[in-house]
Amino acid sequence: MSVLAELLLAYYDDNARDLPWRIGPKSSPNKKINPYHVWLSEIMLQQTTVNAVIPYFEEFTARWPDFKALAVAADAKIMAAWAGLGYYARARNLIKCARIVSHDYDGTLPQDEDELRKLPGIGDYTAAAIASFAFGKRALVMDANIERVITRLFEISTPLPKAKIEIKAALDDIVPQERAGDFAQAMMDLGASLCSVKNPKCDQCPIYSLCTTGQLGTAAFYPVKAIKKAKPMRSGMAWWIEYDDKVLLVKRDEKSMLGGMMALPDDGWNARRDGDGALIIALKDMQIRKIMQHDALVQHSFTHFSLKLKLTSIELIQDNILDEQMKEKAIWWPIKDIDTAGLPTLFAKAVKIKTDENEKGIK
Ligand code: ADE
Repeated sequence: MSVLAELLLAYYDDNARDLPWRIGPKSSPNKKINPYHVWLSEIMLQQTTVNAVIPYFEEFTARWPDFKALAVAADAKIMAAWAGLGYYARARNLIKCARIVSHDYDGTLPQDEDELRKLPGIGDYTAAAIASFAFGKRALVMDANIERVITRLFEISTPLPKAKIEIKAALDDIVPQERAGDFAQAMMDLGASLCSVKNPKCDQCPIYSLCTTGQLGTAAFYPVKAIKKAKPMRSGMAWWIEYDDKVLLVKRDEKSMLGGMMALPDDGWNARRDGDGALIIALKDMQIRKIMQHDALVQHSFTHFSLKLKLTSIELIQDNILDEQMKEKAIWWPIKDIDTAGLPTLFAKAVKIKTDENEKGIK
């Protein structure tokens, strides 16, 4: 085994984070690696930090302990449990993947990277991570932490994302045959602690003696990143429509952003255009007691655009505003239970504006 692998694995044996989906050096000897846990955590960890994921992971595994249990759970329950984690396409793929694994593989994940990559929600990174963490295979696991460690170690100056090809080749040179999963997780832990984006602590690093930019004192300048285009700003409206301590929520169209999630009704904004100012749902005979526009804007940043939503509150005199067709899409939800509706963060922010203003006595 190379000196680099020996140093990193020794670092892992002494310092590995004790994470609920991991079998690490500090885990009890009776605890066996659970591929369902590895898969679930890796899907959740795509674009989300370890600390944010842990409570969701705990809740999912308590409610749905294996692929078969998750496969038979109602979509709406899973989507609601996912609320707040963001990137909801992940949850929809999670459901699809659990059903395929349950039906086609009798509830057991395939071990082969190529086979894993065919499943919904599993791309190159996740296939490599599952193959090596769950099944002990030698695979090239590349996430942002690992990319940072490698570009610093070998002074790779090509900007990301172009540098990925060089990073992968460098990884292929150093990943050991034995304990490849621990080796990758050691780099992840190093990247999440000493080899941080800002102010890396090279003086404490276990592989300082082998690290080119560490020795040169230039580690903080790596990885080099291509200059990003500014995100477009979109605007739209959302409505808080209230009657008798209930608020009107809608189930978003499956094909739209945040598809399948519960939401406040809005005016049809999306990544490509602003909302048109008109409610997307048809409500009949609205008799209004009170209407107000809130000063505070709901601001949210998605991957490809940012959004500013104006929030309007309407208090009704009656609630028979849903025709038969609308009753399939919209529901009167008790305001006191709004936390259990599974609203995505954007709409949870709107609710917060509403409740903060109520508390201040604006209503
Ligand atoms: N990020 C993604 N997968 C991870 C893991 N297994 N350990 C720590 N951070 C991670």
